[in-house]
Amino acid sequence: MTNKKALGFPSDFVWGAATASYQIEGGAKEDGRGPSIWDTFTATEGKVLGGDTGDVACDHFHRYPEDVALMAELGLPTYRFSVSWSRVMPDGRTVNPQGMEFYDRLVDELLDHGITPMITLFHWDLPQALEDEGGWRVRDTAARFADYAAAVHGALGDRVPDWTTLNEPFCSAFLGYGTGVHAPGVAEPGTALVAAHHHLLAHGLGMRALRAAARPGQRFSLVLNFAPALTDVDDEAHREAARKFDGMQNRIFLDPVLGRGYPEDVLADVAHLGALEPAIRDGDLETITTPLDWLGVNYYAPVRVAPLADLEAPSNSGLPGLRGFDVLPPRGPLTSFGWEQTPSSLTDLLLWLRRHCPGLPLMIAENGAAFADTIDSDGRIRDRDRVRYFADHLRAVHAAIEQGADVRGYLAWSLLDNFEWALGYSQRFGLIHVDFDTLQRTVKDSARFFSGVAASNAVPV
Ligand code: NOJ
Repeated sequence: MTNKKALGFPSDFVWGAATASYQIEGGAKEDGRGPSIWDTFTATEGKVLGGDTGDVACDHFHRYPEDVALMAELGLPTYRFSVSWSRVMPDGRTVNPQGMEFYDRLVDELLDHGITPMITLFHWDLPQALEDEGGWRVRDTAARFADYAAAVHGALGDRVPDWTTLNEPFCSAFLGYGTGVHAPGVAEPGTALVAAHHHLLAHGLGMRALRAAARPGQRFSLVLNFAPALTDVDDEAHREAARKFDGMQNRIFLDPVLGRGYPEDVLADVAHLGALEPAIRDGDLETITTPLDWLGVNYYAPVRVAPLADLEAPSNSGLPGLRGFDVLPPRGPLTSFGWEQTPSSLTDLLLWLRRHCPGLPLMIAENGAAFADTIDSDGRIRDRDRVRYFADHLRAVHAAIEQGADVRGYLAWSLLDNFEWALGYSQRFGLIHVDFDTLQRTVKDSARFFSGVAASNAVPV
């Protein structure tokens, strides 16, 4: 498996790339698609950098055959993508057969090219019709999600082995309803916690619906984003700052799913908002605790934290209700997004997960980096920084596996440069460059590198 110059991965390791519907599809009004909260948000002045929208994005809706052909050329065996709820249910409730047919065509195209589809049911683009009824503030949205999950599984479940309920409920709840930097743009910390609970409820009800319809061999999962907390000083006050951050960033979503309920320390940290506990009804935690076949881990960077002298002072972290600590500026070299590049934090995270949820298989569902790419005069994109980021982080994953972490696969974020939410098209995460004027695709050096890793099932030392 290994030679002297490469670190080999387990023989059945899953390799692939990931995207999300609103970030790449475009076709915003095609075939009866209804508006999502991101259509509304991007149409609101001042919400997204440069006024960018996902109306066209990468035009993947029309160009998916070209994108699938590129994946096949690169030898990517798995493709993780999300379904747009408002494309397949414009009002959030009623199936639009024409909208579903897009995913039907996409899945068949992938299978025809020998690529395994992996579906994420919710990657933040809630139908606007449901937001108008309260969105993630109301419990009913969780029930609507379960119906939607059943409908998509009913249409595609005969061909898709891997299903994820939600992608990063942290962002959808806390950035959408807590800081308001994401759609629907609500800035109410208490509401963000209620939204978090309703996301978890949706996950639980969705898992039940999927399990009820499961076909042999299918796997069901949840994808969470994790950010380890780093401190400069190892004393009580710094450990407490890291604990608070870790509770709200990592454990609040994970522990209820694992059957441990909400972490007591997190409940205490946010008790002053009086929002989370009243939202939890009898039976909710049982619903949320549905066994996962694997946990999706999205990792980009660690976060540095330090205590504040005044433990009652609000935190600059933007995390709902937290006080008494601040997030410190990241330390270079940074990506163009301004994120740290600290691969050892990924090893540490995977080993923490091994201890925290023993026996649960892990999948790196996203990892990658944004850099300002340039096209050289010969047409080539020599994105050395991204190659180095991938190589370093793949070695970090390898190190964790060597130390016992049960990591089953690695999916690069992202297949294509795409619409990076509040930052519009300013951040390029793709293995494949997209010219957003001509929509021309250009394979970057990082894609060739990653293709070699997948082909050899090994990363160079
Ligand atoms: C995680 C999200 O799932 C994805 O949509 C986003 O583009 C990346 N992070 C990069 O910010």
